[in-house]
Amino acid sequence: MPQSPLAQRYTAVAVALHWLVAVGIIYNLFEALVVFDDNTPRPAIDLHKSIGITVIGLVVLRILWKIGHPGPKPLPGLKVWERKLSVSAHHLLYLLMAIVPLAGWLHDSAWKGAPTHPLVLFGVIPWFRMPLFGGLNDAGKDWWHEKLFAVHQYSSWLLAGLVALHIAGALKHQLLDHQPQFRRMWFGK
Ligand code: HEM
Ligand code: HEM
Repeated sequence: MPQSPLAQRYTAVAVALHWLVAVGIIYNLFEALVVFDDNTPRPAIDLHKSIGITVIGLVVLRILWKIGHPGPKPLPGLKVWERKLSVSAHHLLYLLMAIVPLAGWLHDSAWKGAPTHPLVLFGVIPWFRMPLFGGLNDAGKDWWHEKLFAVHQYSSWLLAGLVALHIAGALKHQLLDHQPQFRRMWFGK
């Protein structure tokens, strides 16, 4: 017998990836808001980079998983505008989840200090910079470093706004519309 749309959920893999990516992104946004200033300690920036690069890997897995497992149909009872807004917001979230950390990694790869500051994920796994800027002089690297920081910065704050909208939408469906919204993105049968 086909399952009622109210009982449908995302797969356990999609749920695990959703929450791991969410924790990584929210931690990095929070750290940027409360810790980063003109004298941010190096270990705090290194942790930010390690989490961000881990997020890139998880987002790649998430997109590949999504291709094979599209997930449940939208909740029944949504108004047409709510369904359109939520589908568009999810697409934009996928796009920004990839652009934000990739722009951060590119920004870091263009840093003229990169050759003397190796990237070591969580202080354990040696990692590489994108091999795109090695042939440039310091002025060329500075130019790209600055421009890519602007992309990283603006896309991050756009992502933060969209995540706030996403959380507000989920809370509305769960608490005001009394739909089983959170259960869809959690483990269980
Ligand atoms: C950085 C943080 C977050 C990002 C980037 C994010 C991203 C996404 C994306 C892209 C989807 C669509 C999944 C798909 O169709 O494959 C989704 C679904 C969902 N998210 Fe988030 N999310 C985040 C945080 C949260 C938080 C904090 C909550 C809870 C308050 C939440 C609750 C949900 C729920 C309930 C769904 C299922 C929506 C449905 O019924 O289809 N998310 N999320
Ligand atoms: C989860 C993904 C990420 C998020 C949400 C994120 C978010 C942010 C935000 C909001 C800022 C502060 C922007 C501002 O000052 O207005 C920032 C700064 C920065 N990010 Fe990211 N980032 C992520 C991934 C990365 C990655 C992968 C790298 C590099 C490998 C990176 C490197 C940096 C650097 C070097 C700064 C400047 C830190 C400073 O000097 O104060 N980020 N990031």
